[in-house]
Amino acid sequence: MELVIEGNALIDKEIVKCCIGVEEGKIKAIKKILKGEKHHDFGDKLILPGAIDAHVHFRDPGLTHKEDFGTGTTSCAFGGVTCALDMPNTLPPVTNILALEEKARNADMKAFVDFGLFAGVSLNCDIEALAKSAVGYKIYLATTTGDMLIDDYKALEGIFKDINETEKPVSVHCEDEALMDRTLNPDSLRKYLKSRPNICEESGIKKVLNNRGNAKAHICHVSTSEGARLIENESITSEVTPHHLFLNSNSDIGALGKVNPPLRESKDQEALWNALSQGTIDIMASDHAPHTLDEKEQFETAAPGIPGVETMVPLMLYMVKQNKFQLERLVDAACKRPGEIFHLKKGRLAPGYDADIIMVDMRSEAEIKGKNLHSKCGWTPFEGFSAIFPRFTFVRGEVVIEDWELTGERGYGKMVIGNHMGMENKE
Ligand code: NCD
Ligand code: ZN
Ligand code: ZN
Ligand code: ZN
Repeated sequence: MELVIEGNALIDKEIVKCCIGVEEGKIKAIKKILKGEKHHDFGDKLILPGAIDAHVHFRDPGLTHKEDFGTGTTSCAFGGVTCALDMPNTLPPVTNILALEEKARNADMKAFVDFGLFAGVSLNCDIEALAKSAVGYKIYLATTTGDMLIDDYKALEGIFKDINETEKPVSVHCEDEALMDRTLNPDSLRKYLKSRPNICEESGIKKVLNNRGNAKAHICHVSTSEGARLIENESITSEVTPHHLFLNSNSDIGALGKVNPPLRESKDQEALWNALSQGTIDIMASDHAPHTLDEKEQFETAAPGIPGVETMVPLMLYMVKQNKFQLERLVDAACKRPGEIFHLKKGRLAPGYDADIIMVDMRSEAEIKGKNLHSKCGWTPFEGFSAIFPRFTFVRGEVVIEDWELTGERGYGKMVIGNHMGMENKE
């Protein structure tokens, strides 16, 4: 083998002491003993698949004072995310093939880890043409950062139909504009929640359920107990963010916690933890949405969005250590299921899959500090939280993090488009 990684690996549902053999960036074999030209013997340390974060905003092009593909994917590497799927609300918005291919070229030169790009859906966009390079589609049912609102609900059914023909998944931001209270001028997290109440999400999800047809609809950032209940018996996939799990509208973080959908109540948090544990909510995704501190200064005018791609897996690993969350379910939600939903040969320690691998020393607890993270925005709403950062990160068999330090190369990251309709991933 070109490379062998040895340790206590989570293979499907069991932790086994084994060797993972890697050839040409892919896992070739998993055996008790393997010989390799390069051999990392990690002893009793934990070996897991790298995570796939299916919802990030890397702000590139157009908003690179907040983030760019270099800093965004550096954060990924440090946080154990080996592939991130980037949202289309950049400048220009990614709603046509030219913008999509331009973004792909730019990202490919800067990325430290692999990435996929969403195509934004606007009323007159060419859905079929976008399929060539997009990993999936994104629909905004509410105004949030960026301007890609679909509030013509009559058009939804047709849009879902066109998307279904491409067989690609479609992620939907579900909040019903009509049910928001625009008369409030919120100056606190409590009031912001009042202005975008739980019913907005419930109603938004219903619009998707009623119009999706056979399309592979995926509900972004489920944040309410009502939302979690609504999708319980539906063959629809969904995600939850770390901030909706760990924070609520009583958290003492002011405008840093302003986000869409808003931080909710502790009863919602409880419902989200349960839904994630049980798999009602399929995956974790960070909705990494960096804004500068300047842009977060005044609550009323602050930009909504919270960074989180670097802290998602580390926060959850600490929960695992505290016996508050199951390791197996974490790997399912952060690696395997996003791989399945977006048709990537990633997110599993199994032959044929990309050798995207992290090594974790469960003894190495750290305190999260904004100044130590790698996003351009320079802050985190999880300041002071305990976490376990991966010690090594491999992307397709190459070391990008070694002993908590960046050794990866800018531009090494490759674009994925998902294997839909028998198409292979783009090289
Ligand atoms: C996101 C952003 O800033 O791009 N903001 C947010 O509050 N989540 C957009 C989004 O995902 O809604
Ligand atoms: Zn959103
Ligand atoms: Zn988002
Ligand atoms: Zn590249």
